Amino acid sequence: MQHAAITGWGMAVPDRVMTNADLERMVETSDEWIFSRTGIRERRVVGPGDSTTSLASAAARRALERAGLTADDIDLIIVGTCTPDQFLVSQACLVQAEIGGHAGAFDLGAACSGFVYALATGSQFIENGVFKRVLVIGADTLTRFVDYTDRTTCILFGDGAGAVVLEATDQPRGLLSTVLGANGAGHKHLYVPGWGAYVPESAGIFPEYRPYLQMNGNEVFRFAVRVMGDAAAEAVTKAGLTFADIDMMIPHQANLRIIDAAARRLGLPKERVWVNLDRYGNTSAASIPIALCEAEAAGKLKEGDNLAFVAFGGGLAWAAGVVRWGIAGVTPKPPCEPVANGVVHSGAATANLAGA
Ligand code: ACO
Repeated sequence: MQHAAITGWGMAVPDRVMTNADLERMVETSDEWIFSRTGIRERRVVGPGDSTTSLASAAARRALERAGLTADDIDLIIVGTCTPDQFLVSQACLVQAEIGGHAGAFDLGAACSGFVYALATGSQFIENGVFKRVLVIGADTLTRFVDYTDRTTCILFGDGAGAVVLEATDQPRGLLSTVLGANGAGHKHLYVPGWGAYVPESAGIFPEYRPYLQMNGNEVFRFAVRVMGDAAAEAVTKAGLTFADIDMMIPHQANLRIIDAAARRLGLPKERVWVNLDRYGNTSAASIPIALCEAEAAGKLKEGDNLAFVAFGGGLAWAAGVVRWGIAGVTPKPPCEPVANGVVHSGAATANLAGA
């Protein structure tokens, strides 16, 4: 069987930083409340000219560069997103318009779990021999749907994109196990009304939507604490491993208390759990690939490491998987190059793993 190794990775975030102090000027809140309840200090927010397309395309270019490939080498593009720039056409086609090539292209909607769902889907196409190279992107600009007069939601979210290139290999690398789940009955706890084809009868022909994210924070919190631990444990068992074998857990970055609770339950020490939500907040489908890029840039990932990805979010959906990092026998690529504001982007490729 073919495996789908991650051979390229890249991230992009907007330049604009919104700190807790900025939010103190907008709603009745405080840096102390936000940090102690969520672990977030600041987040990146799209400005004029930024879009899901611009961020996703920048992350994709970096991932391709890292893999030593161009868009022409790619067979399929999957974008996990719940904030596409348009509903017609797909976000994946908008990215392709920027980066080029003629790969198949489609979106995958699983909110904050979108990247792991897309990774699982992309890996399947390689494992079953249909494709050789797949570009998987997680990208969201949820701040476009945040009500900046609602202190219970506006403090949480940021924008960004992360991408990985998957390539076929005989080595047992890439996704070793997959857990996907959803509880559709919980959709009412986290959603953006309107902007879809459904129009309530009472709304008339031209309804006035309130296109802001609505969230029952306490309900989502309880769900998240339970499902993060359950899904990660199931993924590790399915991979035939124990948590002693997990070198780094890369969880969805929504709330430090949720991550801490899951890590405690799974017996993972802090140094084996990657956390960067203090600087980005919850970037939805982008959070895991951004965290992956930063962990790699910090020199924390070695060839052969077992990484546990686990995500939850709107749906209510969840997803987890164990990923074995790198490809044996290939010279490690240089670490990502740090740029302004501590944001890390992938550097130039020095090795092309396609033939490895
Ligand atoms: N600043 C100050 N006070 C606040 C704020 C704020 N920003 N927000 C709420 N409060 C107040 C509340 O009004 C409440 O006041 P009261 O006691 O007088 O009624 C008090 O703080 C406590 O509110 P809680 O909602 O109980 O606070 P909690 O500790 O649960 O934290 C939070 C709220 C951070 C939203 C938490 O519930 C959470 O993180 N939930 C999960 C949300 C999440 O992860 N969503 C994203 C999912 S991913 C996706 O798919 C998009």
